[in-house]
Amino acid sequence: MDNRPQWGTRAGFILAAVGSAVGLGNIWRFPGTAFDNGGGAFFLPYLFALLTAGIPLLILEFTIGHKYRGSAPLSYARTNKGAEWLGWWQVAISFVIATYYAVIIAWAMSYTVFSFKLSWGREDTVNFLIADYLKVSDAGVMGSLVPGVLIPLIIVWVVTLGVLFAGVKKGIERANKIMIPALVILFLGVVIRALTLEGALDGVNAFFKPDWGRIAEPQVWVAAYGQIFFSLSIAFAIMITYSSYLPKKSDITNNAFITGFANSSVELLAGIGVFAALGFMAQSQGVPVQDVVKSGVILAFAVFPEIINQMPFLPEVFGVLFFGSLVLAGLSSLISIVETFVAGVQDKFNVTRSKAVLFGGGLSAVISLLFATQGGLNFLDVTDEFINQFGVALAGLFEVVYFAWFAKQLNPLQQHANAISDVKLGVWWKICLSVITPVVLGYMMYGKMKERIINGYGGYPTDFVFNFGWTIAIGAILLAVVFSQFKWKSASLEVPKESTNKGVSS
Ligand code: ALA
Repeated sequence: MDNRPQWGTRAGFILAAVGSAVGLGNIWRFPGTAFDNGGGAFFLPYLFALLTAGIPLLILEFTIGHKYRGSAPLSYARTNKGAEWLGWWQVAISFVIATYYAVIIAWAMSYTVFSFKLSWGREDTVNFLIADYLKVSDAGVMGSLVPGVLIPLIIVWVVTLGVLFAGVKKGIERANKIMIPALVILFLGVVIRALTLEGALDGVNAFFKPDWGRIAEPQVWVAAYGQIFFSLSIAFAIMITYSSYLPKKSDITNNAFITGFANSSVELLAGIGVFAALGFMAQSQGVPVQDVVKSGVILAFAVFPEIINQMPFLPEVFGVLFFGSLVLAGLSSLISIVETFVAGVQDKFNVTRSKAVLFGGGLSAVISLLFATQGGLNFLDVTDEFINQFGVALAGLFEVVYFAWFAKQLNPLQQHANAISDVKLGVWWKICLSVITPVVLGYMMYGKMKERIINGYGGYPTDFVFNFGWTIAIGAILLAVVFSQFKWKSASLEVPKESTNKGVSS
């Protein structure tokens, strides 16, 4: 036996995995992305991406973590020392994401407090968000720290690092056992209330109404894959790390299906809830639903407050439910994102968990201050775009190509999963990972890179985008290569014996 920590129960692991998957991506990103990319017609690419890439990759990552019993860098190094940098790349991606993800949770925390008095701008919620709350400066100008963001940000980090200090079972597992049921209750409250508003059905109809013409656009498929990867926490090093804490007898395949479908159900519910609320706003303003839809930051932090301002009955409660859901969903994901580098540093440098949390988590907390400055929103927007497209999605492509074609690990991993899982993996799993996902993702990546290089991003000055966005995406790779050069201080790179034993599925 090694002394790797373990989850206390199967439910504990599933809750932690679902807690990681269900996050800002589901509530903050999905509804707007789906609407921007063809509404109802988005579900086809979304389902395709879920079934051919999302779930197969989740199974792959659960199996890797379980078989190699290590953080992402250690697990990759155990397949081949030359692949270690891929594990660090995914860890570096998580590190970058943690730095801005924490800030969005901090905003949600502020807005939960604003809900009590609807103090988010009665007249103009966009202006309140941009000018009064975030005090946004011009693109590329950092400005000073914004106290209204800094204070909740400190709370976010204290909670996250506090949970991580307490360990896997006593910290992460226990926190998710509290946060996820609470999130379900709050979030169901949001959806039920939204559906009872006048005009709700028009909103839901607009969400599901397919724009079939859009299906042929590669951009729509890019968005679907991006959404699935971000939402399922794939290629973030998270699921490998979490499954490395599974006991020997664990049902891999079933756990992956449960996690994947639970995540997509929340996503769908979020879409219904958000669009029901948008339908209400459209009706009260006498305009079509598409005129009130926005995506990302503006949807959650300006359009929602505006909707809540107009609600007839206890609007404050709706505000607390909505922004409280964002905080809970975000925190349970942030914990998993930070755990990837805590585990990686611990495995590699043989330091205690407390030191890894203090230095790894502490460093990301300090860097996150950048996004709490007046320039924060612009930096955040560019970082989010580049680290997702040329971080998460690209690392996912490298991951499948490496395991399927270079390491030729799909057969042994399939055997490993099948020996302990109720549902046996068939040849479909290997086809998805070795052919469908690399082809679709590779094609998308090529198109996306070309577009970014030619067109820049989001109307920002090209030098800003070039310097900042690409530096981050390429920096993550360089950092990974540097980390992979250090010597392993503790863990042996031999594949742990006991994890190759056949277990009884549970
Ligand atoms: N999977 C997490 C989310 O959806 C990162 O936000």
